[in-house]
Amino acid sequence: MIRIIAALAGLVFAGVALLAFFNGAYTALTEEPQHSADHEFHLEAHGPKGGFSFDGPTGNWDIAQLQRGLKVYSEVCSACHSLKFVAFRDLEELGYSEAQVKAFAATKQVPGIDPNTGEATTRPGEPTDYFPSPYPNAVAAAAANNNAIPPDLSLMTKARHHGSDYVYSLLTGFTDPATFEKDGKRLMEEFPDFTTPDGLYFNPYFGNLNLAMSPPLVAEGQVTFDDGTKATVPQMAEDVAAFLTWTAEPKLVERRQTGWGVLVFLLFATVLAYFAKKQIWAGVKPKKKA
Ligand code: HEC
Repeated sequence: MIRIIAALAGLVFAGVALLAFFNGAYTALTEEPQHSADHEFHLEAHGPKGGFSFDGPTGNWDIAQLQRGLKVYSEVCSACHSLKFVAFRDLEELGYSEAQVKAFAATKQVPGIDPNTGEATTRPGEPTDYFPSPYPNAVAAAAANNNAIPPDLSLMTKARHHGSDYVYSLLTGFTDPATFEKDGKRLMEEFPDFTTPDGLYFNPYFGNLNLAMSPPLVAEGQVTFDDGTKATVPQMAEDVAAFLTWTAEPKLVERRQTGWGVLVFLLFATVLAYFAKKQIWAGVKPKKKA
């Protein structure tokens, strides 16, 4: 009797499993793949030609590049984006002297309090101050940018997949949707209804292809680099992407170098352990087979 019940229960389980399988297979075969412009025409982020200097396990910062990136941020991006986790004194890590940092900080106005009236006001920055926000509050930021708040950039390269590549691609990726093609397919032929609403700008690296940031880097020489590097759009984009990688993880290179040190130490410890084992067991002879 028990055997019959067990067999029946087994049959029911097998039947349900089979049903579920066919149901799933049917849906998989008949369901249309997602057909939308942002799904089919989104581009994967890529880095600059030759990659960044800090790519890979042996990469390193290019200090001159980080200085150029700071200049691009200060002269272009800081009009809309804050950098609230970076203090002016952190810039000493980019090779600036204390006096240079002090002078740089003093050129920025930060929120302060009038010592006589207690009213909110602004004062020149000190090295211990953080980069100020360009807007007094989120409402003002949204009002000035077609209702989109420019996000803080301190941690941006960590907040996006392949963040350094993404920032580079985004800044160099603005293009005309009318002529945009991917894999030989034209966006406007596949999706004739696709539009970029007023106040938004087409960029295939952005999730839904239209974003509220107008192309910030548009002309060669928009920034003048102190080291004589030619300020092409890809160069400025690469430099500011490198700078924002540094703001998001200033210890990136140090962390990797510590890793190498740990590897060398572990290798040394392994060799040491091997010889110690030999020494300790030296007196013990293997038993002879009878
Ligand atoms: C005129 C104002 C303005 C300037 C100048 C500007 N941005 Fe933006 N940025 C915006 C706005 C607004 C958004 C939000 C866009 C959205 O969400 O649609 C944004 C978004 C971004 C994003 C985030 C995109 C995402 O995935 O969410 C990055 C990265 C960025 N900007 C980088 C920069 C860099 C680097 C510069 C300087 C080279 C710069 N921006 C200059 C207004 C600006």
